[in-house]
Amino acid sequence: MPQPFPSEFADLLTPKGRRILEGKDRDVRGVLLDPARPFVSLQGVLDAGKATRCRDALDTAMRDTLVLMEDPIPEDSILGMVENYEERLPKTVRVRTALMENRRSRSWRAAEAVGLTAMMRSDTYAAFAAVVSGRALSRPWGIQVLCYSPGDYSGPHNDHHPEEPEARDGYVDMHISLTLPGVDHQYLVYAQDGHFSEMTRVSTVGGITVYRLPFWHYTTPLLARRGKEADARRWVLLGTFLDAAPGARASKVIQPAGAGTPAGGASVGSGAGAGRG
Ligand SMILES: [Fe+2]
Repeated sequence: MPQPFPSEFADLLTPKGRRILEGKDRDVRGVLLDPARPFVSLQGVLDAGKATRCRDALDTAMRDTLVLMEDPIPEDSILGMVENYEERLPKTVRVRTALMENRRSRSWRAAEAVGLTAMMRSDTYAAFAAVVSGRALSRPWGIQVLCYSPGDYSGPHNDHHPEEPEARDGYVDMHISLTLPGVDHQYLVYAQDGHFSEMTRVSTVGGITVYRLPFWHYTTPLLARRGKEADARRWVLLGTFLDAAPGARASKVIQPAGAGTPAGGASVGSGAGAGRG
């Protein structure tokens, strides 16, 4: 069976996507170096036909291999309160995930079979994250697959990892959304100037969102079209990239294309995004 995912991420790109990858799009290159801009949403970057074929192959191969990841609202979060207005909410989430770390897992084998693992491990996949973030990134990087079904969401959280020296000063996530036609909508809400005031639709086919974490955000519950609940899923291909360590060997570093010339800074989509969900 031919693998729907190409072995190089670059082979999924439109001409616009290739310009970005090559560092030639001055509006996108290094856009996340601006601290006021922790998130960017890019459309028209993946070829729509290829993205649709990849989505369908992924859904067929992996939908029965997923594991539920669930952190509900704590049971005592209301009746355990002793002071008015002192409510506290830790990160809540419900989503299914493919376990990609274990090579013997069903998810890993399914991802291999459709060519997904090779694509997410390809140099051009990381190079795209590097050019948008404007940073030299570390090799290897983390990969994960998430799947949102009706009612799945992630509550407010910021993805800060202060206990991890390599991540505590920030890191980069890149999400590719592959949404089935049964989905009506799902949004990412994010903080701007201290309020959850911004929102962008993430229920796209082939939309790419790139994040400089941490920042506050949440993902709204996925809503299905009426009668389409059984086929309403949004797949997220998620790459997590640490900054390259100073003085790291060249073989361990993904350099952003076009570095060395001043980055432009006009507008590209906008927004902030959900790290793991
Ligand atoms: Fe997140």
